[in-house]
Amino acid sequence: MKFDILTIFPEFFESPFSFGIFKKAREKNIVELNTHDIRDFTEDKHRTVDDAPYGGGGGMLMKPEPIGRAIEQIKLKGPKSLVILTTPGGEIFSDETARELSGYEQLIIICGRYEGIDERVRELYVDREISIGDYVLSGGEYAAAVIVDSVSRFVPGFLGNELSPESDSFKDSLLEHPQYTRPENYMGSGIPEVLLSGNHQEIREWRRKESIKKTYLRRPGLLDSARLSLDDISAVNDLKKTSRPIFRAYIALVHYPVYNNRLTIITTAFTNLDVHDISRAGKTYGIEKFYLVQPNSEQQKLAERVLRHWTEGEGPALNKSRAEALEFVIIKDSLGDAVKDIEGIEGRKPKLVVTDARPRNNMIGYRELRETMMSNSGDPFLLVFGTGWGLSEEIMENADYTLKPVSGYTGYNHLSVRSAAAIILDRLFSCTI
Ligand SMILES: C[S@@+](CC[C@H](N)C(=O)[O-])C[C@H]1O[C@@H](n2cnc3c(N)ncnc32)[C@H](O)[C@@H]1O
Repeated sequence: MKFDILTIFPEFFESPFSFGIFKKAREKNIVELNTHDIRDFTEDKHRTVDDAPYGGGGGMLMKPEPIGRAIEQIKLKGPKSLVILTTPGGEIFSDETARELSGYEQLIIICGRYEGIDERVRELYVDREISIGDYVLSGGEYAAAVIVDSVSRFVPGFLGNELSPESDSFKDSLLEHPQYTRPENYMGSGIPEVLLSGNHQEIREWRRKESIKKTYLRRPGLLDSARLSLDDISAVNDLKKTSRPIFRAYIALVHYPVYNNRLTIITTAFTNLDVHDISRAGKTYGIEKFYLVQPNSEQQKLAERVLRHWTEGEGPALNKSRAEALEFVIIKDSLGDAVKDIEGIEGRKPKLVVTDARPRNNMIGYRELRETMMSNSGDPFLLVFGTGWGLSEEIMENADYTLKPVSGYTGYNHLSVRSAAAIILDRLFSCTI
């Protein structure tokens, strides 16, 4: 495997790849690392590699001609050569990408400097654009070093012991289990008994369990792409009982004040399906209570009758899980009453998060809201959903956060409130195994 690096600082690569396992692999010709000074491919007296950007703005850009000449000179013919541009705008580098790239004979890696590289290099020469994370480095050399090191680990023979990359973190999308070596007792802390047992089956099982536990506790998002067995899934379900992210979230479904299609304030009617579906979704995602905000007394009576049907008498015996979901529905005259109820339970006012299908200024995204809700601030949150044509301006204006509308890759997003609520709850609180 051959790495060819295009850089204006070839000396950058002298030290990181001249010791340890990489040095040995180089000596055995398992990997080859060549650096090419982009200035050697210039044709002017000053060996110029940069110029000012068209359209103005600060900083300089790397010129296309020296990089183009370098690639044309060093690229091997055939499909086993790949030209990579390091850039914050590229696909995020991962274990899977490293594994895939190790199948090439030659990787040519372009290291940008200054404000980056003329766009035509990308259009004419680049096969793949790679970022090593959502932050900006001062040069592509740092990214190239990361790529070279992690790709090399998958090159046959590089690690000596062929099994090693397979037991590392991210294999099967799981983090690695904890590891111990001598001494058996360090500062009063021992090692798990099973590792001393000599029972390989038990050790394997312990390692798998620990690996799943660590992934669930630290990076639950990775579990989505892990291929889990039924035993693994039951281990995660056990963990969910004892350890889950801390958040206190409530839902309100508002029937007044909401708009009709002429944007007049109205009170909407009770909808059986909404209450059933939102309460079941709420239960699934760990919501504390579901408030039905309805000031009309006739409508309240109707809702109470439906709720009683499922939660009292024969209802729970016929369908226990439905009763469990509908039991946490509370009818309130106003949103203010729901807020007071939460304040009574939590000892502080909830932060109001409103939802709307229409875009507004300064909306919060799902990731940021999830992180805010799980930040251990102790604040409870009330997610407010509107019926009819949406929540009134009065409610929208008084919110702490307005959540971005649910949308796909089409311009259409006229969802029922129960669909929108289910999607939003999933985006905020899902843990897929
Ligand atoms: C200062 S950066 C240029 C940033 C560029 N103006 C932008 O905003 O996208 C200089 C060079 O560092 C490298 N670089 C910076 N951040 C990177 C990242 N996260 N991953 C990979 N390469 C990166 C690229 O080669 C880039 O051309």
